[in-house]
Amino acid sequence: MNTQIVEEKITIPLQTSKEIDFSQEKVLVTKDMGTFYNPIMKIHRDISLLVLKHFFSNFKRPISFCDPMVASGIREARYMQQIPQLFSKIYVGDISPQALENCKQTFDENSLSQEKIIYFNCKAQELLYKSNFDCIEIDPFGSPAPFLDAAISQTNHNGLLCVTATDTASLCGVYPKKALRRYNLHIHKTLCFDELGLRGLIAYCQRIAGKFDKTLHVEISFVYGHFYRIFFRVEESAQQSLNSIKEHKYISYKRESQEIQIHNFNEKERIGPLYLGSLNNKELIKKCIEDISIIQDSKKALKLLESLLHEVESIGYYDIHKLQSYCNIAEGIKFTTLFEFLNKDSITSSLSHCNKRGLKTTLNFDELVKLIGELKNKNNI
Ligand SMILES: C[S@@+](CC[C@H](N)C(=O)[O-])C[C@H]1O[C@@H](n2cnc3c(N)ncnc32)[C@H](O)[C@@H]1O
Repeated sequence: MNTQIVEEKITIPLQTSKEIDFSQEKVLVTKDMGTFYNPIMKIHRDISLLVLKHFFSNFKRPISFCDPMVASGIREARYMQQIPQLFSKIYVGDISPQALENCKQTFDENSLSQEKIIYFNCKAQELLYKSNFDCIEIDPFGSPAPFLDAAISQTNHNGLLCVTATDTASLCGVYPKKALRRYNLHIHKTLCFDELGLRGLIAYCQRIAGKFDKTLHVEISFVYGHFYRIFFRVEESAQQSLNSIKEHKYISYKRESQEIQIHNFNEKERIGPLYLGSLNNKELIKKCIEDISIIQDSKKALKLLESLLHEVESIGYYDIHKLQSYCNIAEGIKFTTLFEFLNKDSITSSLSHCNKRGLKTTLNFDELVKLIGELKNKNNI
């Protein structure tokens, strides 16, 4: 039976007679819904809409966009509702014929013009190799790895490649063998597992780009709930590609102290190769924040963007509670007191967007421990 729901201001057809309560935080997304629609990914679509709008704001012409795993089409319906002028053509595909039917219905139900939309029922790679595109969306179930060759090779110079991974457990070190097999990433569990997984994924994408004499610049990247999201500017440059790959390093991580050190290679404790550059283009984030009013119910998206904006540039983060106990502090220091103290002379430290008690800092380990010692003495704790 065909039912409809209205989410994110879009009417979406669902092939089910089951009652589904989308107001719940956790909705069970099942195959018998007929259409894949995951409300938890609203923030994913919110941020994507903002990033596309502002990344391409200086483009002199409308862009070609390709989403080879389109599912319900809610993303494209939102784009066509809010930023239709950005696009010259939108190529959408899905391996499931039902998904494409649903996608067409989504456009019909919302009275959106389909003039710019071209539909393909095929494998993602097949659609990607049909043309080159200014912007490519890779949002699969699980790992993006199987789609990256096609996606990177087919994104135009100065175009935007949007990559999602939901196999976070592999990238974070829960399944180190999978990380090695899928991403050639040596990783094990740490207390800043999520950020290191993000850096490992970035490095992997950049190494693939090298095959095509391209380099991937990170515009925006983050961890949110069960997924990673990265927006890369793609540049055609063999030299830049080599430079970015040369910047990949290994790190070692001492579990007890949480100290991270950077190495070219460390056989025993290696984690990497990792991307160690900037995770976000703050100017682009500022533009997204300034335009947040175009997003309905934008609280979560705004909170995430603001935490990305204020995050300091450092590799990994410290779990504050564990750090305090390492520094022999019996009672907890208030987070505000800690940050005020660490930032008293200049901004050195911030919370990590990955973890509510993750301390990112540009201070080196010895400086940090020394300052925490001073704070401890000052407060007599
Ligand atoms: C996670 S969903 C995409 C969600 C969508 N981007 C959104 O925002 O709601 C993944 C979709 O990819 C399709 N898919 C899975 N494997 C595929 C493949 N190899 N080629 C093309 N489509 C595929 C599935 O049928 C499903 O509709």
